[in-house]
Parts: sequence; structure tokens; C-alpha cells
Amino acid sequence: MFFLQKEKDLVNKIDKEKLPQHIGIIMDGNGRWAQRRGMPRVYGHRAGVNSVKEVIKSCGELEIKYLTLYAFSTENWKRPKEEVNFLMDLLVEYLSKEVDELNKNNVVINFIGDISVLPDKCKIEIERAQEVTKNNSGLVVNIALNYGGRDEIVKAVKKICTKVLNKELSVEDITEQTISENLHTKNQPDPDLIIRTSGEKRLSNFLLWQSAYSELWFTNVLWPDFRKKHLVEAILYYQTRKRRFGGI
Ligand code: IPE
Ligand code: IPE
Ligand code: MG
Repeated sequence: MFFLQKEKDLVNKIDKEKLPQHIGIIMDGNGRWAQRRGMPRVYGHRAGVNSVKEVIKSCGELEIKYLTLYAFSTENWKRPKEEVNFLMDLLVEYLSKEVDELNKNNVVINFIGDISVLPDKCKIEIERAQEVTKNNSGLVVNIALNYGGRDEIVKAVKKICTKVLNKELSVEDITEQTISENLHTKNQPDPDLIIRTSGEKRLSNFLLWQSAYSELWFTNVLWPDFRKKHLVEAILYYQTRKRRFGGI
């Protein structure tokens, strides 16, 4: 009861006029969370799903427009095969269980990253999730899966080069907007706020182009322990920042 009141007090401090439109989260620390409990790493991935659910629900309540969750990087294939398989299975399980509820809550599910190389069982659930929720008008949740900022930029360059070769675009007309429009996040605002859990202070290839002017918030909290109050803390921090975008 006391705990809930404290959370409410925190939420009440948020200035609704100055909400970040787009929040990105590097969900890190699942393995360490499990290891601290003497459990295998995958136990932490499973526990992390509860944090995902709470964060999506909270962003909906707070009327955030876009949330990008970093779920699997292009570098995470370096992990043991068993862990990678577990993560893919967990995604399938999560989507098959949660899509109806997300749909009821007016959430749009959108995947960013190279989905084409994923196992078929993942692709089927991903396509279903995107199809079922595509006409919703609430929170857009981008799930960054097999996502790498550099890979995304390489793919954009290739698309742009193809347009130039096909004479659909001239080299002189290439602008920053051309690049933005050829990224997975086209038509979306850049992230205003990026959160990383587990104490690491790096981007690890997350939204490299889009994060040019993002505010960064780091916490030692491990992802499976991340709750609404931490999200609210990050938003309150964000609201104290003076964003200059190079101006004065
Ligand atoms: C984040 O937790 C989840 C993924 C990268 C898939 P980690 O698995 O990286 O956990 P730590 O950083 O090893 O504790
Ligand atoms: C970043 O976490 C990727 C995701 C959260 C999906 P990592 O745990 O892979 O990052 P590094 O290796 O510590 O930089
Ligand atoms: Mg990690």
C-alpha cells in the first residue's frame, strides 16, 4: 500500500507536457541476475519477460507514443547455441501468449532488425503479431531483434545505392532525411530517452543513427528487477534535462 502510494507520488511529478515521445531501452543484466541466484543464465531471460510486460503496460498508461526494446543484437549470435535457442523459443512463447492482450490494449507491435534469417517458428509469430496489431492507434512497441545499428545503416546505404543506380534518386538529393527514411524506424521520431540497465554505459550498437541527440539514463538495476518506478525515475530525469540540439 505504502509502496503503491510512493509510486503514485512519483507518477504525479511527471510533467505531461514534456513527455518523451519515444523511449528506447537496452534491457541488460538478465544473465547476471540469474547467476546471483545460483541459477542458469536463461532463468534471467525468463524473469525479464515480466519487466517487458510491466514496461509496455506502464508506457501505455503514461501515454508514451513509441517504445523500442532491444531484445537481441546482431552480435548476440556469438552466445552459446542453447542460449540463443532459448531466447528464440521465449520470443515465440511470449508472442503466442501475449499478442491478444496487447491487441486489446491498442498496442502496435513492430519488429526492427533483420527478421529474414530467423527460424520459421519466429517469423510466423512475428508476422502474426504485426498483422493483428497493425491497425491499432496506441503505443507503438518496436522489438529490436537481430538488430544492429551498423547493419541497419549498411542496409539503408544499399537501398539508397539501388535507387541511384535505377535513376530514381540522384546523388545530390541524398540528405540526412534520405538515410532516416531508409532505416527500420522510418516515419518514427528519434528516441528522446534511452535507458540502459545493469550498470553498463554503452550503446552496444543500438539505434546509432537515431540516438544522435537522445538523453541517456543508466541504472545499476538488472533488467529482471526493472519496474514502473524505475521507468518513472528515468522520465523524471529526462524532464530535468535542457535539450539544446547544438544551440544555446
Ligand atoms: C540482456 O541480458 C538480454 C540479452 C542480451 C538477450 P544479458 O543476457 O546480456 O545479461 P548479462 O549482461 O550477461 O548479465
Ligand atoms: C545489448 O546487451 C543487447 C541487448 C540488450 C539485446 P549485450 O549484453 O549484448 O551487450 P554487451 O555485449 O554487454 O555490450
Ligand atoms: Mg548483457
